[in-house]
Amino acid sequence: MVRLPPVIGHRGLSALAPENTCAAIHAAYSHGISWVEIDLSLLGDGTAVIFHDDTLERCTQHQGHLVDINREDLAWLDAGSWFSHEFAAEPIPTLAEMLSLLSTYHMGLNLELKAQPHVSHATIVRCAYSHIKKYWKSSQPIVISSFDHDILLAYRKADPDALLAMLYEDLQPDWQSVAHRIQPLSLHCHYPELTQDSITAIKSKGYQIAAYTCNNLNEAIQLWQSGIDTLFSDQAHLFTQYLNNKAE
Ligand code: G3P
Ligand code: MG
Repeated sequence: MVRLPPVIGHRGLSALAPENTCAAIHAAYSHGISWVEIDLSLLGDGTAVIFHDDTLERCTQHQGHLVDINREDLAWLDAGSWFSHEFAAEPIPTLAEMLSLLSTYHMGLNLELKAQPHVSHATIVRCAYSHIKKYWKSSQPIVISSFDHDILLAYRKADPDALLAMLYEDLQPDWQSVAHRIQPLSLHCHYPELTQDSITAIKSKGYQIAAYTCNNLNEAIQLWQSGIDTLFSDQAHLFTQYLNNKAE
């Protein structure tokens, strides 16, 4: 069975480089981080890109909606300057570029599928699945996660062997019946809402637990002690360093 690592770089190593860019993956790799999480969204023309928001302003120098741009716009969009001038002109990566890069680095991946109003579930699933088949050249695992559990159900139909993860802001009372249908590897939960009872219940059903997004080492140590398998962190390099020192 695939075991998730104790730390996953959230949107790459997003404390040191602009989130969801190739620069954030280079940073993760150079700091010894073995797994990253990134967000999949589709542009208006269906191009699969790594980007978190529906709008451009937070993570680029530009205004507008992701749905209103197309592949050719990736040539001029700057997704790095907002973070630091050191990353000026860093592009929004395509999913194809990102999968190739991560394969080269032999890193594990959690690909989060963002639900978008203008895109059908079938399109999102087809897009992710076909890209992974074509561009993932590594023996490392890929875990597909989503807050939209209908997307995960569609993915399960498309790929009975896929490693899936149900994302929750608040764990819902029906989580067990949904999990029974999706057959996930793990549940990915917002950690302030997790209780010891829910952690115990999830683990007792054989699912791993990942919690987002923890950037404080003392909190991280408590979360690991409470039975959480994996933490998403923007500061994954600090957690990795702590774990490496502890193992020595
Ligand atoms: O996958 C964990 C976490 O990334 C979920 O929330 O908004 O950061 O994509 P968000
Ligand atoms: Mg995410």
